[in-house]
Amino acid sequence: MGERRRLRVAIAGGSGLIGTALAGELKSRGDDVRVLTRSQGSAPHAVHWNPSAPDPALFEDLDAVVNLAGATLARRWSPHVRREILDSRIGLTQRLVAAIRRTARPPRALVSASAIGWYGNRGEETLYESSAPGTGFLAELASAWENEAAGASGAGVRVVTPRIGLVLSARGGVLARLAPIFRLGLGGPLASGRMWWSWIALEDLVGVFARSIDDAALAGPVNAVSPSPVRMRDFALHLAHVLGRPAWLNVPASALRVAYGTMADEVLLAGQRVIPKRLLDLDYAYRDAELGPALRRALASRG
Ligand SMILES: NC(=O)c1ccc[n+]([C@@H]2O[C@H](COP(=O)([O-])OP(=O)(O)OC[C@H]3O[C@@H](n4cnc5c(N)ncnc54)[C@H](OP(=O)(O)O)[C@@H]3O)[C@@H](O)[C@H]2O)c1
Repeated sequence: MGERRRLRVAIAGGSGLIGTALAGELKSRGDDVRVLTRSQGSAPHAVHWNPSAPDPALFEDLDAVVNLAGATLARRWSPHVRREILDSRIGLTQRLVAAIRRTARPPRALVSASAIGWYGNRGEETLYESSAPGTGFLAELASAWENEAAGASGAGVRVVTPRIGLVLSARGGVLARLAPIFRLGLGGPLASGRMWWSWIALEDLVGVFARSIDDAALAGPVNAVSPSPVRMRDFALHLAHVLGRPAWLNVPASALRVAYGTMADEVLLAGQRVIPKRLLDLDYAYRDAELGPALRRALASRG
């Protein structure tokens, strides 16, 4: 009959797409949430932090720290941008873990974002948490990012690293970029459209993070994707159908490379067919396991 204990959770990078949704969910179930942000005195529950030298006091005596900080990948990767992308994940996580290790009472859990980019570009291969790592800038980034997070286990902290797939939300990420183009009737597959896209609805991802905070038996990498990855061209067809528009126009790989350089090859033209083996073994209850309804719901939640 006991009441659920109110958890104390800090979310680094919690002002972004995933963090805002997660903070809302944790607050609505009664948890005490602090969003760590670089911007000064903004939203309620937001606390300023300096990711170049995090203050250990921010992580003292918490139930969980969630790490969602990271500079955006959705642009051309110039040498300067590459350094920013790397430091805001690998360097930041290293400094965050060092701060956690200096606390007198370390948090019970660290849930630190990773990405399915960990697997690299894998064609037709079916990928599980136990699969071999990939190669390339993103794969090496994700691997080093997870390794830094794992360092917190030395302080007795349970570490979970959700490997996040393409998050479906009208508020940000891939869907927010594609939907306006498809609405104009200018949508269609990227290149051959044969690459696999492993997606997850934002609400289901929030549930995976909440489960990772709560479940003392969960540790290590967890594929945070739906159980139904699709080829990019089927994603385009579903999106066009949901929006009542055609999906005729094909964007050639050469045009994507001109616009985005190597980012096009590693993100837009790459594919991973990822299965959420650990979540399926836990009987994780997805709200949206199928793409059509997931797209409909995501787009309905904000136009
Ligand atoms: N969305 C996806 O489809 C997806 C897929 C796979 C992996 N991920 C990963 O999951 C994490 C969260 O994703 P998201 O979509 O919520 O990202 P987001 O909306 O871009 O939010 C990331 C947050 O990180 C902070 N940040 C940005 N640049 C930073 C920097 N240089 N140093 C320190 N903090 C910085 C920002 O918070 P402040 O400005 O308030 O400090 C920002 O709100 C990211 O690492 C992302 O790569 C996302």
